[in-house]
Amino acid sequence: MARRKIGLIGAGNIGGELANLCVARRLGDVVLYDVPAKMEIAKGKALDLGQAATVSDVESRIIGTADFADLGGADVLIITAGVPRKPGQSRDDLIGTNLPIIRDVASRAKVYCPDAFVIVLSNPLDAMVYEYRRVLDAPRRRVVGMAGVLDSARFAYFLASEIGVSVHDIRAMVLGGHGDDMVPLLSNCTVNGVPIQDFVAPERLASIVQRTRQGGGEIVGLMGTSAFYAPAQSALAMAEAYLLDQKRLLPAAAYLEGEYGLRDLYLGVPVVIGKDGVERIVELALDSNEREMLTKSAATVQSIIEVVKRS
Ligand code: LAC
Repeated sequence: MARRKIGLIGAGNIGGELANLCVARRLGDVVLYDVPAKMEIAKGKALDLGQAATVSDVESRIIGTADFADLGGADVLIITAGVPRKPGQSRDDLIGTNLPIIRDVASRAKVYCPDAFVIVLSNPLDAMVYEYRRVLDAPRRRVVGMAGVLDSARFAYFLASEIGVSVHDIRAMVLGGHGDDMVPLLSNCTVNGVPIQDFVAPERLASIVQRTRQGGGEIVGLMGTSAFYAPAQSALAMAEAYLLDQKRLLPAAAYLEGEYGLRDLYLGVPVVIGKDGVERIVELALDSNEREMLTKSAATVQSIIEVVKRS
């Protein structure tokens, strides 16, 4: 079987951690790309990881580069290019810096690896993945945004800690945009099938929902920069679903063409990821409160996309 090739665009904290995870899980060869000004970081991380793999006895080829041609023929591209948040910044504050970067990456990818399955992480997420697909001009199954897996992991983590059960037994999903009005679903949130409301009182649930919505900001406040372990792990789960044709049902930012009554935007919804990329978008029967929250979140995302369209 041919070796798989994973291109990581952005050799920052998430890119570096992703490279580490790809090697550890033996997903394939890794190309860690960054712009010329940061090429030495990319090369340094690649060397360090290659040497780490020698100790852990993993045979993996990992290179750092500033030459996009090295990404030629990549099976998967994971885009973390751009700047992360600083304390006090919202994800939307990053548009001015990250939009030209995303456009540049998408136009190069169109030349060198137009057929890769693409997972975008750059913020503001829903608008950046929208623009990436627009520039690449690819079918929607091939370009997806990572947010829902991360936001759902945060939600599940807080719930498991509150209840005192294993995180493995929490079934939790967060839909909507990757912003403060994301929609942690309560109607289908369970501890292994048992309704979450049987374990957590309404006011505690409300405060966990709120903490989830600000989960990224909480970490930015603590570290002075964005989270990276959980975002990397979340993107990896999506890449693995594609490379191993797992048909996983995961919440992710997908391009909507009428689903949930919405069109021409990316928004977090449940999707099935397998060898064909985003193979299905799943429409859940939401309760009226959730539907209202999703509509509100979609309106916020749409307004950011409008800014992108005008820029
Ligand atoms: C976060 C960033 C990655 O939510 O968007 O931590």
